[in-house]
Amino acid sequence: MSQQFDVIVIGGGPGGYIAAIRAAQLGFKVACIDEWKNAAGGPAPGGTCTNVGCIPSKALLQSSEHFEHANLHFADHGINVGSVKLDLGKMVGRKDAVVKQNNDGILYLFKKNKVTFFHGRGSFVKAVDGGYEIAVKGAKDDTLIGKQVIVATGSNARALPGAAFDEENILSNDGALRLGAVPKKLGLIGSGVIGLEMGSVWRRLGAEVTILEGLPTFLGAVDEQIAKEAKKAFDKQGLKIELGVKVGEIKSAKKGVSIAYTNAKGEAQTLEVDKLIVSIGRVPNTIGLNAEGVGLQLDERGAVVVDGDCKTNLPGVWAIGDVVRGPMLAHKAEEEGVAVAERIAGQHGHVNFNTIPWVIYTSPEIAWVGETEQQLKARGAAYKAGTFPFLANGRARALGDTTGMVKFLADAATDEILGVHIVGPMASELISEAVVAMEFKASSEDIARICHAHPSLSEATKEAALAVDKRTLNF
Ligand code: FAD
Ligand code: NAI
Repeated sequence: MSQQFDVIVIGGGPGGYIAAIRAAQLGFKVACIDEWKNAAGGPAPGGTCTNVGCIPSKALLQSSEHFEHANLHFADHGINVGSVKLDLGKMVGRKDAVVKQNNDGILYLFKKNKVTFFHGRGSFVKAVDGGYEIAVKGAKDDTLIGKQVIVATGSNARALPGAAFDEENILSNDGALRLGAVPKKLGLIGSGVIGLEMGSVWRRLGAEVTILEGLPTFLGAVDEQIAKEAKKAFDKQGLKIELGVKVGEIKSAKKGVSIAYTNAKGEAQTLEVDKLIVSIGRVPNTIGLNAEGVGLQLDERGAVVVDGDCKTNLPGVWAIGDVVRGPMLAHKAEEEGVAVAERIAGQHGHVNFNTIPWVIYTSPEIAWVGETEQQLKARGAAYKAGTFPFLANGRARALGDTTGMVKFLADAATDEILGVHIVGPMASELISEAVVAMEFKASSEDIARICHAHPSLSEATKEAALAVDKRTLNF
């Protein structure tokens, strides 16, 4: 006998599990299906983000930063710890424990909100009167009927042609987060978000890291001034980034990986490394969903086609998160999940794509919201810019981390904030103020007139807002 639900969510990542919880809060009978397995074969909801993405990468970034601080910076504070030893097994074990806490937390939230969880792969069977039949294949098979279906099946790492992931030598984000030893030489292809975060982790732990990037510009989506400042910091740390390369044949053998490439000058080169991480973007995942069986429209990249409200071409079927257009970010997936649940309930769920923040959790952190200076120039906008360096911020000096700046971009006529870009300590936290300000259509003057605690890094935000009007107080 099939079980009936108002809403069935396929995928339990940040998009799916949040959509399920919100739908349940709104009074619907909700099922969430997720196939991720932990090491023991049990359920591990939370998707890419919790299992092999946001959470474990941030755990290792934190641990490796502590290691680097103990090695290089504690002495500056008068703390002598002698020789610092790495216990990689313990570090990775701690990361796994953090992941498990998050998996368990989601299972608890499902119980609390009365979401019925199914562990297995969900796929469309057919449209039925007033909904869809969904099959679940797992340790136990089930058949469900849902009046509404939300597809939240996420994304997978994109492999380079001819260099399939073996997670031994050629690693995706999955293998990159569970190396058994620090490689002497580590290669990465792609200096995007994963390349920089994972490159930073393993460099801090002792690997000699080389990142090969296809584009001639570093972090092309980031404000140019901010990207330049970040590149200077990474160069100083010894993170080797080669831009404008063309990657050729990749040979993997027992002793390591050899990557043939042409550098920006057109010269043939070979990079020999112990391990290679390929971080060249991700592809939407609809494997095993039987989208074609029910006529769910996909685009040429395999993403589910949706309109601005996350509606697919099938009535009552919605799609959210990495499997649809837009930035592949956990908080974007969550926002879409909430908005879709609310739309199903007849409310006006809303996602503002202009105020979705981006953060790269390197050291220095890079964070931004809104338009970059190059985007404003390209569209011929009249704007004013203001920057403030952390070098002139008392809290940054006390922290011992004065790298970077806060940059404001505001409309020349109205002073409305158009973009805020930060490279420096705790940029990930500082950016929230800018998001709130932009969501409320604040002007840079609004921020400049708000009292910020002293001493705090957020004073750099206030000063950058003052800088738009050329009236910084501390620089
Ligand atoms: P996913 O998290 O991919 O979840 C989809 C889930 O659906 C998975 O559990 C999958 O197993 C399941 N599934 C798929 N098909 C089926 C099926 N047919 N039946 C049942 N289950 C199915 N984003 C940030 O915002 N901040 C970060 O710091 C950040 N760090 C990242 C670090 C790394 C290394 C990576 C790879 C990504 C990172 N991201 C980060 C991106 C973030 O992980 C994704 O944007 C986010 O996970 C997307 O959520 P989602 O719910 O759409 O999909
Ligand atoms: P990415 O899109 O951030 O970067 C990929 C990089 O690889 C680009 O610079 C691109 O030019 C380069 N590239 C592509 N093909 C290449 C080739 N053949 N040779 C050399 N270089 C090539 O993708 P990444 O780093 O894989 O991450 C995927 C997504 O996951 C991100 O875009 C982001 O949405 C998400 N993510 C978010 C994080 C965060 O929010 N902190 C952290 C990690 C991932």
